[in-house]
Amino acid sequence: MKKTSISFILNGDNVTAEVPATWTLLKTLREIFELTGAKEGCGVGECGACTVIVDGDAVNACIYPVLEIEGRQVATIEGLADKDGNLDALQTAFLENNGVQCGFCTSGMIMSAKSLLNEKSRPSEDEIRTAIAGNICRCTGYVQIVESIDMAANKNEKMRT
Ligand code: FES
Ligand code: FES
Repeated sequence: MKKTSISFILNGDNVTAEVPATWTLLKTLREIFELTGAKEGCGVGECGACTVIVDGDAVNACIYPVLEIEGRQVATIEGLADKDGNLDALQTAFLENNGVQCGFCTSGMIMSAKSLLNEKSRPSEDEIRTAIAGNICRCTGYVQIVESIDMAANKNEKMRT
């Protein structure tokens, strides 16, 4: 199969890959870069399990054509912890607040929440629920997830003050 060379920034690093033009960003992340945090649930842009951040916006990587990623900045769950391995406040909050059960939705939930908190450091509950409206969780009932995001926002705010 004919391949095309693409270059972009992945979790802060300049990367290049040879990919079939028909591939999605999700397939590229999982199969070339072996970043398997983003999951394929529905594969058609409905469940949010594949959510990553592109140029600051949460996107469904399963329907994002990989050729459109040229020159853009991509952030995945694997890039959230700092260089010393310290987890992001969202990751810690999900762990401490039982925001994770089977974990299949978790990467996507956290990346949607990360995009929100990057835009608005102290969102309301409605804003949190709107930000994760495209992320389906079959386990938790969402309450612990919303509380986890709120907890992370609160912790970030305390660290700033
Ligand atoms: S796998 Fe991408 S939205 Fe469901
Ligand atoms: S924790 Fe299982 S789908 Fe959300």
